[in-house]
Amino acid sequence: MNPTKSASVGNSETPAGARRDTLSIVDNRTGRQYEIPVKNDTIRPIDLRQIKVHESDFGMMSYDPAFANTASCASKITYIDGDKGILRYRGYSIEELAEKSSYPETAYLILHGELPTSEQLKEWNYHITHHTFIHESIKKFLDGFHYDAHPMGMLISTIAALSTFYPDAKDIFNPDSRRKQTYRLIGKMPTVAAFAYRHCLGMPFVYPDNDLSYCGNFLNMLFRTTELQYRPNPTLERALDVLFILHADHEQNCSSTAMRGVGSSHVDPYSATAAATAALYGPLHGGANEAVLRMLVEIGSVNNVPAYVKSVKAGEKLLMGFGHRVYKNYDPRAKIVKRVAYEVFDVMGRNPLIDIALECERIALEDEYFVSRRLYPNVDFYTGLIYQSMGFPVTMFPVLFAIPRTSGWIAQWQEMLLDHEQKISRPRQVYLGYDLRSYVPLDHRS
Ligand code: ACO
Repeated sequence: MNPTKSASVGNSETPAGARRDTLSIVDNRTGRQYEIPVKNDTIRPIDLRQIKVHESDFGMMSYDPAFANTASCASKITYIDGDKGILRYRGYSIEELAEKSSYPETAYLILHGELPTSEQLKEWNYHITHHTFIHESIKKFLDGFHYDAHPMGMLISTIAALSTFYPDAKDIFNPDSRRKQTYRLIGKMPTVAAFAYRHCLGMPFVYPDNDLSYCGNFLNMLFRTTELQYRPNPTLERALDVLFILHADHEQNCSSTAMRGVGSSHVDPYSATAAATAALYGPLHGGANEAVLRMLVEIGSVNNVPAYVKSVKAGEKLLMGFGHRVYKNYDPRAKIVKRVAYEVFDVMGRNPLIDIALECERIALEDEYFVSRRLYPNVDFYTGLIYQSMGFPVTMFPVLFAIPRTSGWIAQWQEMLLDHEQKISRPRQVYLGYDLRSYVPLDHRS
């Protein structure tokens, strides 16, 4: 418990046997005392509404910009302990999943709550493989974009457009419909992403190859040229698979919150996923991998790192790929990404920007500014280096985040829909604007 908070209600220890799962609050404005139930170390702000000075008052609310200390839902999907650097999907550690699982299997786990049996995995792979094709009209739609359109903008609008192709998706309380849209979304994301990439290059679209793995097929749709059958490099295919596992879910981050918030209006899952993808696009979230690469290019050489760090400490810039709302320790995903980076460099050659990244990390981990603020590398610090070495342009980096995160978004959306405590998302505000005033005619305004 935060000691500064406990001071107002007294901080003496509760005698043994007198323990109650409540919080006593004394309102010093009125001298009244209230007892608020505590469950799972949380209180419900609605219980604060009884706290009033006058009977006609609205009652007390909690004020928590950016949800810094507010749980918006109860969830069984992903567990994070930011102080210890722990990340688990459905109870399984990210380290073990990255070592032993595949992205499709992890996506199944996140969505269904349990690892699949071999029969279930076969069926799951069959369905997500057989929903990779997109309607031919979507190709025309993609052709309408400029050659230099950002692929993330293309992805957001194309996912939203999918809702017009599948009106059955509106049937959100029908488990069969939800299952079908899940296959479609997970199956089609790589296809739309790859088509967006090929459009930017002016290259013909490559259709899905059902004989390849999820990531192998994605590489095929991105990079195949004249080969009769594309054979992905197994190291790169596995590297992408591991990165997809690491990005599959991350509990109530900005984009999952968008997915749940928009989905809470009962819109179809394509529209909600488009909203979540838009949230991911920002440089403070999934767009950070792109921003990191641009930053490393801007720094230019190891010798320039101290000057860059100085400007960060002066508050002129952010050290992109550093810091996290939840992790106040090394992001466990960043450790795995760093290892994968070297595996990819063994195949593709060392990315020269890695030396600048390592120097940024070395300085930051020793520097008082970063140490006192507990700023560590997050997942995005090293992913861009891998993607660049694999041949992706920087604009594709956030897209590579959105593809695997789709499974997490759908799991979060489904959990929200089936949670009887959830309603349409609608926060309160603290109004600090004008009280009622009279309209001033135009010719009377100064
Ligand atoms: N570089 C420099 N200073 C930073 C950084 C950074 N990357 N991140 C946080 N700080 C500073 C803040 O300025 C603040 O300093 P102050 O106390 O002197 O005002 C302090 O550290 C605390 O930071 P907050 O802004 O309170 O942290 P918050 O939880 O709101 O932000 C965020 C988290 C958005 C990730 C932030 O660390 C950031 O902008 N990082 C860079 C962008 C990035 O890498 N985003 C990817 C996150 S991972 C993901 O979404 C996949």
